[in-house]
Amino acid sequence: MSAAGRGLSAIEPMRLEDLEDVLAIERLAHPFPWTAANFADSLASGCGAWVLRIEAAIAGYAVMMFAPGEVHLLNLTVTPARQRCGMGRMLIEYLLAVARGRAAPRMLLEVRPSNVPALSLYHDWGFERIGVRRGYYPAGAGREDAIVMERRL
Ligand SMILES: CC(C)(COP(=O)(O)OP(=O)(O)OC[C@H]1O[C@@H](n2cnc3c(N)ncnc32)[C@H](O)[C@@H]1OP(=O)(O)O)[C@@H](O)C(=O)NCCC(=O)NCCS
Repeated sequence: MSAAGRGLSAIEPMRLEDLEDVLAIERLAHPFPWTAANFADSLASGCGAWVLRIEAAIAGYAVMMFAPGEVHLLNLTVTPARQRCGMGRMLIEYLLAVARGRAAPRMLLEVRPSNVPALSLYHDWGFERIGVRRGYYPAGAGREDAIVMERRL
């Protein structure tokens, strides 16, 4: 979809009132979704969290933790019906600008090796693989490793 086809879009801080819609998307988009408590804990512990709205509706969101010397991307999700329309790119570009605004020297994240769309997005935005966390994620049969990626800022 073109930028014009996305309608009026805006990235805004996530509010507690957004949680119901965010959780509905989370359940659609992830095999092992975050719970309401995961989001509430992130908001309460000072993480940054944003929603991307198209007109009034939430189309995507992101949660990022600020730590000394780095920011850590904890969640980046676009609702399935809006995927492959440039929303992930919009969110990551926004997050990188936030991180630079905080003078963070790097952004870190974990991603499943099986998550081809996310790996491709991160690669496009200059993230590099710096390690593996063995058995980090729950998976259908057992656990799945996480690839740790870094973007210098
Ligand atoms: C990963 C995700 C956020 C990407 O968001 P998106 O809005 O679909 O991505 P965009 O349309 O902005 O695409 C940006 C780039 O991502 C990559 N990408 C996105 N979807 C892809 C797909 N289905 N297959 C391969 N690459 C894909 C491409 O490199 C794409 O660039 P291109 O369009 O020039 O080829 C989205 O697929 C998603 O929410 N997935 C489920 C949740 C998730 O896995 N989050 C990441 C956890 S680490």
